[in-house]
Amino acid sequence: MNNIMLEEAQIASQYIKAHFKSEIPKTAVILGSGLGNFTKIVKIIKTIKYQDIPSFPQSHVAGHKGNLTLATIEDGTLILIMEGRFHYYEGYTPQQVAFPIVVFHLLGIKTLIVSNAAGGINPSFTIGDLMIINDHINFFGAHPLTGKNNDQLGPRFLDQTEPYNKKLIDIAHQTAVELGIKPQQGVYIGLSGPTYETRAEIKAFGVLGADAVGMSTIFEVMMANYFKMNVLGISSITNMATGISKTKHEHQAVVDVANTISDKFSAWVKRIIQNLP
Ligand code: HPA
Repeated sequence: MNNIMLEEAQIASQYIKAHFKSEIPKTAVILGSGLGNFTKIVKIIKTIKYQDIPSFPQSHVAGHKGNLTLATIEDGTLILIMEGRFHYYEGYTPQQVAFPIVVFHLLGIKTLIVSNAAGGINPSFTIGDLMIINDHINFFGAHPLTGKNNDQLGPRFLDQTEPYNKKLIDIAHQTAVELGIKPQQGVYIGLSGPTYETRAEIKAFGVLGADAVGMSTIFEVMMANYFKMNVLGISSITNMATGISKTKHEHQAVVDVANTISDKFSAWVKRIIQNLP
């Protein structure tokens, strides 16, 4: 069996091409919890519901819409937007979580911008910060590239020296300055959830070098790395992590905070896309 659902991805990509009937973008953006406002500052050309795409999983999380959207930004650049993503804690396999990335590869996507809501571990962070992800720690205990490898597609043992592209990180910093945004930068640790972390876990993750914690992103990034896409990752710090936060966590509060950061995030991502090489 192929480990990355290639045949299903071929059918899905053909469906998407037939439906969009247009040139396919080179850049895709995955919008995390509460960051959906990005679609309000782009010109939407066409939207497909995930449920209509063959083999595409469904998004069940509050704050996640479930649309694949083709859009342009002001300078005419075409982009593909995933409004909502799939999570391991929903019961999807790592391969299903990363399935859209295989489809993106077949569609010709070269640059992937991933976003998420995350809890701040670094005590110098503040709720409402945006963090450029410069590395990650895979704490899921699972991986989308296990199983038989197809050497025609990518290597068995994939290098992970630079999962997040340095040039894109530079562009993110430059454009942030232009917009008066002062982003944080740091390491994202991803784990399955769906429970929030314990105080002991967060203390341990801080010692391990993590700056922010979340339940997504890593499988998608590893799959994008497999296909040599350039990846930029941005976390919106919606809460301070357990033990650092004085209050208990609630998903709705996470989504509400992400919504308030959403406009700043959206303007920034748009500017980043305009400055892509
Ligand atoms: N932990 C895990 N995932 C999250 C958090 C958190 O504190 N905040 C937003 N997503």
